[in-house]
Amino acid sequence: MPLITLDGVSYRYPDADRPALSEITTAVEPGEVILLRGASGSGKSTLLRCLNGLVPHSTGGQFRGRVVVCGLDTREHPPRRLGMHIGFVFQHPDAQFVLEDVEAELAFGLENLGLRRPLMRKRVEEVIDQVGINPLRRRRIDTLSGGERQRVAIAAALAMHPDALVLDEPTSQLDPQAAEDVLQVVLRLVAELGMTTVIAEHRVERIAPFVDRIWTLDAGVLRDQPPRVALAEGGARPPVVDLALRAGWTPIPLGLRDARIHAPTLPHKGGGRFPQWLWADYLPGRGFGPSLRRCARSAGTLDDAPPWRGRRLDGSERIRKDHALAVDRRTAAAAARQHLK
Ligand SMILES: Nc1ncnc2c1ncn2[C@@H]1O[C@H](COP(=O)(O)OP(=O)(O)OP(=O)(O)O)[C@@H](O)[C@H]1O
Ligand SMILES: [Mg+2]
Repeated sequence: MPLITLDGVSYRYPDADRPALSEITTAVEPGEVILLRGASGSGKSTLLRCLNGLVPHSTGGQFRGRVVVCGLDTREHPPRRLGMHIGFVFQHPDAQFVLEDVEAELAFGLENLGLRRPLMRKRVEEVIDQVGINPLRRRRIDTLSGGERQRVAIAAALAMHPDALVLDEPTSQLDPQAAEDVLQVVLRLVAELGMTTVIAEHRVERIAPFVDRIWTLDAGVLRDQPPRVALAEGGARPPVVDLALRAGWTPIPLGLRDARIHAPTLPHKGGGRFPQWLWADYLPGRGFGPSLRRCARSAGTLDDAPPWRGRRLDGSERIRKDHALAVDRRTAAAAARQHLK
């Protein structure tokens, strides 16, 4: 039985001239992880807010269809009640805090539930451990960085023992390292607790390998697809998928791990400056992954190759320049794209 169902959901904000969501029908099964993507203004936040009843309870407007969360019709139950089932993490780290201290914030929702003190303490300890925020527990929230705030927000949501976590671009306000820390927490909850998760996130390359389905919104219209189908079709996707499509790999890899299997089979591309392609990964601080090491030769350094000219990755790594292309996790896949054109 699905945890969440949406049945013909359409929604228009008050005074808006077109609907923000049109005829959305889909469902989320327990344990599923869903990535929600779509251009700015496509309706991602609106859709996620339907899941905890903020739409339409707080927004007004015209709502049609039905959203049912753990058996509760969201029209008939207020966001407070739905919040017991849906842990929600907002885009802006500050949007979600009520109190000044981390521990008080973690206990806040539980106090409202009327939980007894010992049980409350136990839950707070549990989430501090699960989210790995022990060093933050005695801090004031206004002294925390954005990434730390988002991790506290996740912990506060988790303390309520929700049936699902819903995260609305939780990393979009963060620097890359903080974003990575937050996503690590989310992925750990998915792996260790089997947390049902719906997440809007633009770092698709970090999430895609772990998702069961991708929801793509386009002007309020939803497509619900298996990840490989959605990514092959277009929209925001990991650079490695672009590379895979050009190289004709099937099934397309969803992440670096998958891609390594294909790397040695990258096709010859005659006539170009780089006649043979070998794809590999470079992890900052950790050097090259196995694929690139395998092809390392002594004719030139990475810096000789145009995508890397002027960039010092690691001067000691020597490779044959017409044989290799390194793709570093975040930035260099753009170079792969460029050279496969
Ligand atoms: N409170 C509001 N009142 C009226 N229109 C709104 C309101 N909030 C959002 N909209 C409109 O609804 C549409 C969907 O907005 P929404 O915020 O859901 O998009 P989004 O995909 O989350 O965008 P972003 O990626 O920028 O966060 C947009 O056209 C937006 O202008
Ligand atoms: Mg949004």
